Amino acid sequence: MDRIRIVSLFFFIVLFLTASIKASSLNLMPMPVKIKPQDGRFIISRELGIEIQGPYSPRVLLAKRRFLHRLAGRTGIFFKLNPESTSIKIVYKKNIKLSPIMDESYTLLINQSGIILKANTDIGILRGIETLLQLLSSDGKHYYFPAVEITDYPRFPWRGLLIDVVRHFMPIEVLKRNIDAMAAVKMNVLHLHLSDDQGFRIECKIYPRLHLFASDGDYYTHEQIKDLIRYADLRGIRIVPEFDIPGHTTSWLVAYPSLAAIPRPYKMERTYGVKNSVMDPTNKLVYKFLERFFKEMAKLFPDPYIHIGGDEVNGVQWKSSKKIAKFMKKHHLKDFHQLQAYFNLKVLKILEKNHKKMIGWDEILHPDMPKDIVIQSWRGKKFLYNAAKRGYYTILSNGYYIDLAQPTDFHYLNDPIPEGVELSPEERKRILGGEATMWSEIVSPETIDSRIWPRTAAIAERLWSPGTVKDVSDMYRRLKIITQQMEELGITHIKNQDMMLRRLARYRDITPLKIFIQTVAPVQNYERHKSRTYTVFSPLTRVVDAAVPDPPLPREFESMVADYLSTGDRAIENRIINYLILWKDNHNSLKELIEISPVLKEIEPLSENLSIISALALERISIKERGQTPDPRWIERAKRTLEKAKKPVAELELLVAEPIEKLILSITQ
Ligand code: ACM
Repeated sequence: MDRIRIVSLFFFIVLFLTASIKASSLNLMPMPVKIKPQDGRFIISRELGIEIQGPYSPRVLLAKRRFLHRLAGRTGIFFKLNPESTSIKIVYKKNIKLSPIMDESYTLLINQSGIILKANTDIGILRGIETLLQLLSSDGKHYYFPAVEITDYPRFPWRGLLIDVVRHFMPIEVLKRNIDAMAAVKMNVLHLHLSDDQGFRIECKIYPRLHLFASDGDYYTHEQIKDLIRYADLRGIRIVPEFDIPGHTTSWLVAYPSLAAIPRPYKMERTYGVKNSVMDPTNKLVYKFLERFFKEMAKLFPDPYIHIGGDEVNGVQWKSSKKIAKFMKKHHLKDFHQLQAYFNLKVLKILEKNHKKMIGWDEILHPDMPKDIVIQSWRGKKFLYNAAKRGYYTILSNGYYIDLAQPTDFHYLNDPIPEGVELSPEERKRILGGEATMWSEIVSPETIDSRIWPRTAAIAERLWSPGTVKDVSDMYRRLKIITQQMEELGITHIKNQDMMLRRLARYRDITPLKIFIQTVAPVQNYERHKSRTYTVFSPLTRVVDAAVPDPPLPREFESMVADYLSTGDRAIENRIINYLILWKDNHNSLKELIEISPVLKEIEPLSENLSIISALALERISIKERGQTPDPRWIERAKRTLEKAKKPVAELELLVAEPIEKLILSITQ
């Protein structure tokens, strides 16, 4: 290699490194496909003007208005009403109907003199505007957008969030604020779980007993649904309705017992879990009913898909019916799976008549079903791959069950198509994406946002960004910023915690509760249900409900401990000591609150454990400072105390117990 080539290679390497360092410091989520940082920046002034080049689009006009509003809100700039310049150009070719095959790509070019956002479709513009807003930066003097070239498009076309509005009804404003949050991270499907054993949540004009007798008065009217669909459409989000049949149908049977496999009076379910109530697939009148029902719903919901549920039919009632046994024999239906497929095929005909496609849970997969249905895999990836291999479209929800209070990185690394999975290119294409599922057994309108966000933003990135974007610590770094930015959309995931703590503290100073709650998280998976029987009437206002899954402080403390153990750095040691003193002393102040608020009594042992293990860790550090090592009996006692502190109390886990344990047991001289 001659010198010039070596020098220019060196030059390119430096350029590449600078570019990638700069790209990785941008706080974008989901991460775009290609980012080329440039020199310079576009300074935001009150002269900022936006020119739109493209067909009339209510979506783009609203997005422009909201962009300026959010930008003004963050910067305090009073933008001129009629600026001379048009420093932002929005260019697109056409408006489109929402569907799973829409073009959402865009390019964004920012330099000193202006910004150009280009897309083929108005939906691409919406996605690009969210990226632009995330790029807002500031120094001591100015707000600005860094100069950058971005090319971006989604990896998967179906990026959804399911909200169960049955177990706990969610008023329209809850859905709207979550739609705005979804749009901010480029999600595009809101799946509404509208009927189940505990309620029927939508007005039905043809069969009004459904909403009148089986909702406790909590249901959406047609007018509300139309307004919601318009609201979501303006933000580029489809609404897919789910009517779970033939199981999970107690509410239908409360209203119309004749639909049941065992016709008798039914009562609303108030508890959770899989119930026996099921429709009668052998009854012609059931299909007549469903025909008129779906005709009404197909008209109301414009999306090409209707979700028919189909999950968890336990067969108990089918088994106890002689009529059903006789029918199965006559029609050569060997088992209940075949009987359900028979039912699904009839429902499919009804949907097809109404120009709708079917989506349902894993259990609807059956060789008799046509290949244009979508299978939503909730039981495991093997069901996802099985569906794709057998020629079906499919989306992943297993691993995205956000009701289970699992940590963000668990969901983030749950890739629908991980590296090395054996699928042909055609099979890969049939995996359309995924949906986070917000089942609402133990969430209320007050807590739902904190169960959805910010973890769902990481799922949104998994479904939008290239599979190679999977650096967990960088995800957490960006998430910390994005989650706070999202508050401007009205979601209550952060601010409701203080409100709940004020109520728990009987309106006294909540500082001790705040210090405590940052160290704990609700127990994961189905552990809360194991600890007591929850019903639809149970209070969701306790400390466990105010606590959030995967809170940031224990993670940060853990990394502080790891850094300290590997470097022995004094500054880190001091920070650790400050936390330990805070936690040790917090118990006394918290006890004062507990004494005036009986609902807090249940956390007393946990707060005491936190205090005790913090004191132990401080003792361990001071032993080290004295140049000594602890007595083996001291270590044994510490281990027993730590084991106790790791056990859940009041459905809460003390997340800082593990890093404290690591600190105590790993300090060496
Ligand atoms: C489900 O979780 N039963 C779909």
